[in-house]
Amino acid sequence: MTMRATPSTETAPVAVIERLVELACLAPSVHNTQPWLWEYDGRTIALRADLKRRLTASDPRGRNLTISCGAALHHLQFATRALGWESVVEHVPPDDDSVLARVLVGRHAHHPPVPADIELLRARCTDRRRFTAWPVPDDQLAALCRIAAAWSADAVAVTDNAARFRLELLANRALTFLDLDPGRVEEQDSWIDRSGDEGIPQELLPDDPDPLHPRTRFRPGVLEDTRLVIHSGDRVIVLGAASDDVGSWLRVGEALGAIWLEAARAGMSVVPMTQPIEVESTRHEIGRTVLASTFEPLLLVRVGWQVIGRRALPRSPRRPLKEVLSY
Ligand SMILES: Cc1cc2nc3c(=O)[nH]c(=O)nc-3n(C[C@H](O)[C@H](O)[C@H](O)COP(=O)(O)O)c2cc1C
Repeated sequence: MTMRATPSTETAPVAVIERLVELACLAPSVHNTQPWLWEYDGRTIALRADLKRRLTASDPRGRNLTISCGAALHHLQFATRALGWESVVEHVPPDDDSVLARVLVGRHAHHPPVPADIELLRARCTDRRRFTAWPVPDDQLAALCRIAAAWSADAVAVTDNAARFRLELLANRALTFLDLDPGRVEEQDSWIDRSGDEGIPQELLPDDPDPLHPRTRFRPGVLEDTRLVIHSGDRVIVLGAASDDVGSWLRVGEALGAIWLEAARAGMSVVPMTQPIEVESTRHEIGRTVLASTFEPLLLVRVGWQVIGRRALPRSPRRPLKEVLSY
């Protein structure tokens, strides 16, 4: 969305800015760390990473932190449009390296709000229960990859069986690596069932993992799952960019936000799977053997269908606006 920032542009009132930021904060984030800070100066909204929320053991460079901020940046733009406004975004402005993006919200002409899109934002969640056996068709995966490309990220669906098998092996290798690193395990555990408005509630982590199926990164939770009767139809999309840097991470985060909402609109479920990327050796192997070094892998997402009629999951918590937005 482009918007000419001329004096005739109608400026969004503060109440609209607050609503937009609140909606942006519904975005997914690694371990629900919500590592973003917003600052409104009366004209633009600046997005910064909250570096105190970086996962120092598993994400020392802040890749997942920045991807999470990118997802929130996408949700801000999506919400802007859904409320009938327009936005212009400057990514990674050169004058201040603490700012990931600046967003100008205004409008030249009135657009009707799209309440269904606000509902979509509110309904999106990470549903880690096993997908049904019906795989997402190739054309729908390709459409999701095109959405990522429109947000300037590279994306490839792993549809080839041999590549998929290699990816599964690498994912398992990364989990073993994670298990052997007490610092990472402790850090991950500390984000489960935390008090306050952050982290992943136990009720959102599937119970009793089935040894016949791929392992998951989290210890078992209390979410009832029907793993033994539903077989996996998981498909995987690799998201990335030409380089492994802050600007690329931000773009991949925006692409993640966009893919997730469009997948959800079509009834699909999306679950990021980042541990094979967090371990540098498996990330490198994915780039080499799965992507044939066409781009840097920065995030993996599993895409599938949830069983129709399953109970809706409770939303994971969010920090209050006053903790993340300043003026
Ligand atoms: C960069 C990133 C990495 C993530 N990695 C994982 C992961 O490896 N496994 C997982 O189950 N969820 C993963 N998630 C999903 C988060 O745990 C989830 O977004 C967060 O707990 C908030 O919950 P919600 O998506 O339901 O709002 C990731 C999300 C992001 C943005």
